[in-house]
Amino acid sequence: MIRKKNGEGFYRTLALSKFAEGKIYQLKIKGKKLIAFKKNNNFYVLQNRCPHKNNGLENAFFENNCLVCNHHNWKFDIDSGIARISRKYKLIKIPFKIYKNFLWVKTTS
Ligand code: FES
Repeated sequence: MIRKKNGEGFYRTLALSKFAEGKIYQLKIKGKKLIAFKKNNNFYVLQNRCPHKNNGLENAFFENNCLVCNHHNWKFDIDSGIARISRKYKLIKIPFKIYKNFLWVKTTS
């Protein structure tokens, strides 16, 4: 699925046209497990790891402006990534850019 890396270290992932609103897609880049989704016409890329117990977020769901982990129903604001239950828990956002109708994702190292 991940085909190409540009000179800035971004990897080409899915075509923007593939994204359905509110559907979570799993990505794997250089062994790193990520999720990507489009919500309210904005794109998000996160580590596929809930900060509560480190379970995957591929089966999370949305409630208002929150991503809800399906394991223990913790809610995270999708813009800030901060957990509603405690500000000390936060989703890890991954840098990305939109270029030539694809979502390009950058992973560290
Ligand atoms: S692992 Fe996500 S809420 Fe517990």
